[in-house]
Amino acid sequence: MHTASAPGKVYLFGEHAVVYGEPAIPCAVERRATVTVEGRDDGRLRVDAKDLQIEGFTVEYGATDSGPAVDVSDSLLEAATKYVDGAIEQARDAADAPDAGFDVEVESDIPLGAGLGSSAAVVVATIAAATAELGVDLDAREVADRAYQVELDVQDGQASRADTFCSAMGGAVRVEGDDCRTLSTPDLPFVIGYDGGSGDTGKLVAGVRDLRDRYDFAADTVAAIGDLVREGERLLEQAGEDGGEPDEEALEELGGLMDFDHGLLEALGVSARSLDDMVWTARESGALGAKLTGAGGGGCIVALDPTDGTETALTYESSCEQVFRAELATEGVRIE
Ligand code: PMV
Repeated sequence: MHTASAPGKVYLFGEHAVVYGEPAIPCAVERRATVTVEGRDDGRLRVDAKDLQIEGFTVEYGATDSGPAVDVSDSLLEAATKYVDGAIEQARDAADAPDAGFDVEVESDIPLGAGLGSSAAVVVATIAAATAELGVDLDAREVADRAYQVELDVQDGQASRADTFCSAMGGAVRVEGDDCRTLSTPDLPFVIGYDGGSGDTGKLVAGVRDLRDRYDFAADTVAAIGDLVREGERLLEQAGEDGGEPDEEALEELGGLMDFDHGLLEALGVSARSLDDMVWTARESGALGAKLTGAGGGGCIVALDPTDGTETALTYESSCEQVFRAELATEGVRIE
């Protein structure tokens, strides 16, 4: 039996623009998906999704039947099967063991579909646990690469490397097309607000694409996000030693760029009333900056605040269902 875990992520800067080849900086946060895998002899796959911050369930399928037959919504089933299925296929391929069967138990404290990279974390942890169970040692970059292939398959070719690379490597990373690097960064005081909902990533991405095709100024807005990310990258370098205390001035400036980024994303039509409410509450209660994270439309915001101000204020914000502090996860995928 082998267990692996992998962190979720927030976008410090650059979601949506990354789709058009601009750089983005996602940061792994200490909310993890944990996957336990045990080999079985009959070639079947049993997936037990215990706690996905939604009602858990169990499905068993493989070898002789065509697929799972259970009474749960399609999106739930997709979460538990397509991604895990793809991850198991990657592990079988890496170990050259096409008929290997497994019991897979998934636990996650990352809200689903909320811009925190829950599916990427599940895929990354599943590949690591299943390859370990098959006696193969993949390094984090290989896990990231295989996890990206899974997301690409499941999401019909619509995936950037950001979530999977960040979850596998941990810390802050910079992704620009296929060019993925880790960044050295001080500890960043993230506070996450969650409205309890989620956005439709496909629709939101399509909306930005339409605007960008129709208006030069929308294309300029996307390019401006790219410029902002490059500025943010420079600031992060100045902000302090890897894992150390951040420089206050640099942190304040980073917060200002987060506010700017949120404004540009808002202009591109991907924010939501609930996200704006949480962003403004955070700003008014002392956050150095706040923005939506991920596709938008609903889900999470991320704020920078070394004090308790934002966390306390979001507890009283009616648009906010859950608020938590999330340290930067310096460690990516790991065998437990
Ligand atoms: O909401 P998430 O975590 O799936 O992030 C989507 C980020 C986008 O830039 C909007 C799309 C993408 O594939 O990069």
